[in-house]
Amino acid sequence: MIEKIDHIGIAVKDLNEAALFYKEILGLELSSVEEVESQGVKVGFIQIGESNVELLEGTNENGSINKFIEKRGEGVHHIAFKVESIDDVLKILVEKGVRLIDEKPREGAGGKKIAFLHPKSTNGVLIEICEG
Ligand code: CO
Repeated sequence: MIEKIDHIGIAVKDLNEAALFYKEILGLELSSVEEVESQGVKVGFIQIGESNVELLEGTNENGSINKFIEKRGEGVHHIAFKVESIDDVLKILVEKGVRLIDEKPREGAGGKKIAFLHPKSTNGVLIEICEG
């Protein structure tokens, strides 16, 4: 059902500044930056082998990323698992009684279909599933 860790989402105050640490200290390049208006975030991907670090900067003062940083500071925000069919996986999760934030897939960065599971069902971890 789950193929791999697609990415780890990290909430940052300033994407460009955060990317400097990855570039200058760790030697990892930002491969793409994109604004996902519907989610109120600027997203930057840094590829590391088969997975990515996803830097998330909130573009909306009252958006979820800024609220997260206000409450908990910068840091790991979510873990994303890649699945073959998000519709199939969501169906299975509902059948198993998992609480979902997104009952239906929505569009994430890169036009991928994504959905978030509720941390109440996942030991406090915000889990994203993404397709493609
Ligand atoms: Co993500």
